[in-house]
Amino acid sequence: MEINHKKIWITGASSGIGKAVAEKFAKQGWKVAVSARSEDKLLEMSKNQNIFSFPCDVTKKDQVQNTFQKIIDSFGGVDICLFSSGTYEPKDEQRIDVDKIKNVININFIGVVDCVKVVENYFKENKSGQISIVSSIAGYRGLPNSSGYGPSKAALTNFAESIYFDFKKFNVKVSIVSPGFIKTPLTDKNKFSMPFLKSPEYAADKIYHGLIKGKSFEIHFPKSLTVILKILRILPYKIYLFLVDKLVKR
Ligand SMILES: NC(=O)c1ccc[n+]([C@@H]2O[C@H](COP(=O)([O-])OP(=O)(O)OC[C@H]3O[C@@H](n4cnc5c(N)ncnc54)[C@H](OP(=O)(O)O)[C@@H]3O)[C@@H](O)[C@H]2O)c1
Repeated sequence: MEINHKKIWITGASSGIGKAVAEKFAKQGWKVAVSARSEDKLLEMSKNQNIFSFPCDVTKKDQVQNTFQKIIDSFGGVDICLFSSGTYEPKDEQRIDVDKIKNVININFIGVVDCVKVVENYFKENKSGQISIVSSIAGYRGLPNSSGYGPSKAALTNFAESIYFDFKKFNVKVSIVSPGFIKTPLTDKNKFSMPFLKSPEYAADKIYHGLIKGKSFEIHFPKSLTVILKILRILPYKIYLFLVDKLVKR
């Protein structure tokens, strides 16, 4: 049997989507470097012979830098980086609480931007590979009760669109992942019923195939939900705001 020597670094890999993607790639024979703050969870995952624990807090730039260096030293290189770390606290989203908004922006946006910055030269010098950022359909347009999370994801998507052009010149792919509702510890906090809710394994399958094909800028799922939101995205404000006001319970 041919051995797959490809390697991926996944942040936000201690639970939910990141964990399921790590397990999917490991099952396909990839060497997987997993990062998050919870060392115990990463250690448990590394019982899988293809998964290797590299604990890291994405809000600490030095840690991100050191972690990437350790991965390169240990793996000898990386083909794909998937930045999936993120936070969401529904009860903090209903009012404008500047400190809480700063915290969400710091983890979800600045934390990922720091990760991209740390791997930038490596990918540009190698002139190959892929950097993928887990954003969200919540970043498509403004939604009720999303004063920090939605803006953090809108910023991530816009950031990825912006850097896409520069990295393309170096033959490095930049892509985003826009999941709908996936059942994870993050969405378990939601009190409302989530339409088209899917499992982390479903998300992992979509992300794996999207990254392997490497053809699309955006990997989005489930289509039954994302297509509706994509239509809402292009509506004029008057209609969009009217519909969301009528349709979203709050
Ligand atoms: N679930 C959904 O429906 C959904 C939909 C759209 C987008 N997303 C996005 O998908 C990504 C994964 O979310 P999830 O649903 O899988 O939630 P989750 O199970 O809560 O996973 C979040 C991950 O981020 C890590 N993380 C949080 N803060 C971090 C920090 N400062 N440094 C490093 N890692 C950190 C967490 O690990 P530690 O706590 O151990 O650090 C955990 O591994 C997030 O970016 C989320 O916004 C989720």
